[in-house]
Amino acid sequence: MMKDSHGQTCSGATSAALEGYEEALAQFHCYRGNPVAAIETVIAGQPDFAMAHALRAHLFLSGTEAAGLAPARESIALARRHARTEREKLHVVAADALAAGCFDDAAERFDDILIDHPHDLLALQMGHLLDFYRGQSRNLRDRVLRVLPGWDARRPGWHAVQGMLAFGLEESGDYVRAEAAGRQACALEPRDAWAHHAVAHVMEMQGRVEDGIRWSRERIPHWAEDNMMAVHNWWHLALFHLDRDEHDEVLALYDQHVRSGQSTVVLDLIDASAMLWRLHLRGIDPGAARWGELAAAWSGMVRDGIYSFNDVHALIGFIGAGRQDLIEQQMATLQRAAGEKRGNNAAMAMQVGLPLAQALLSFQAGHYADTVLRLRPLRYIASRFGGSHAQRDLLDLTLIEAAKRDGDLGLVQALSAERLHAKPASPIAQRYRMLAAAGRAAA
Ligand SMILES: [Fe+2]
Repeated sequence: MMKDSHGQTCSGATSAALEGYEEALAQFHCYRGNPVAAIETVIAGQPDFAMAHALRAHLFLSGTEAAGLAPARESIALARRHARTEREKLHVVAADALAAGCFDDAAERFDDILIDHPHDLLALQMGHLLDFYRGQSRNLRDRVLRVLPGWDARRPGWHAVQGMLAFGLEESGDYVRAEAAGRQACALEPRDAWAHHAVAHVMEMQGRVEDGIRWSRERIPHWAEDNMMAVHNWWHLALFHLDRDEHDEVLALYDQHVRSGQSTVVLDLIDASAMLWRLHLRGIDPGAARWGELAAAWSGMVRDGIYSFNDVHALIGFIGAGRQDLIEQQMATLQRAAGEKRGNNAAMAMQVGLPLAQALLSFQAGHYADTVLRLRPLRYIASRFGGSHAQRDLLDLTLIEAAKRDGDLGLVQALSAERLHAKPASPIAQRYRMLAAAGRAAA
């Protein structure tokens, strides 16, 4: 039987099909190109190739979209038919679990693969994405650490391992080593958008706004074209400008890059909601046209309810647009998800999605004391519904603004102390601190 470039057996492959499979996989590692189209070409020529079907299934599942479930299930059935080795069969089991919403089971099956096959980069990447979608900062780092002894820099795909390690270290607060790993990955493979993104995260978390803008802008040729993470990396650049109060630039980036393609890809819509809400919290009105466009883009997914992190960001779009009809549908979807008997999303919806949604609705209704009450306990467990620290900062930003509007200056002062520790030069954090200090002195 044919073996891939790491010596892993690939049932049903030919050398030409294997070459196409590895190219599709290389695209996925960098989030560049169109790996779905690439692997479908391979499958058309070699329909018995088990891992090609597994890759197609994983690609459709990796976007956390309900629309991806049907094509993923087709591929899972075909992968199951052609899988011969234990590794291939575990890929089928993992994909099957993921398609059923069992994130934890799937993540563990990918780990099972990696224990015996530490060079299975597809298993590593899917496991890493699941750690991200479950907000598991420890495993974002440790899953990569577990395979590292089997790796060295001469192996193909080393940049991807370093890029994932960089993000895992960053989410674990190990910023110096995260940045080193991310920069190494980008030096090896400049198009590695995940590694680029990990370095941007380090700069975001450390409040290194100038470094972040330089890093992002200088590397635009590597990440901004033909890349599935382009919108997200534009969002990160906009975050740096937001931190400098450059609201016009933020809106320009939003219009020219975040929403320029009017994407209906969930991962892109999350960034759009997250940015407009941050502006809204600052009293900057993005306007009915932007909110309306965003709400319309989200509206097709309002009943999906497969991942609460998405649902909350959809709700933000509906709140901004004042679409009461869609707000009600989205809340009903979250309620339904919280009652599901199978999968991890029920707990995500129950513990974080619904309470956060209610807090955001409270904020919008001007019930700031209620928003504070809801968000104070929630922010300590918010990682359970996934995302990065930078994304979940939305909760903290909403909390501090709600405390300000409620006149709870003691809480504003306390929360600004947190922000200033991480970002001492952040104008907004300084404004909160000064406002609280002045208000309390005058009282
Ligand atoms: Fe990010």
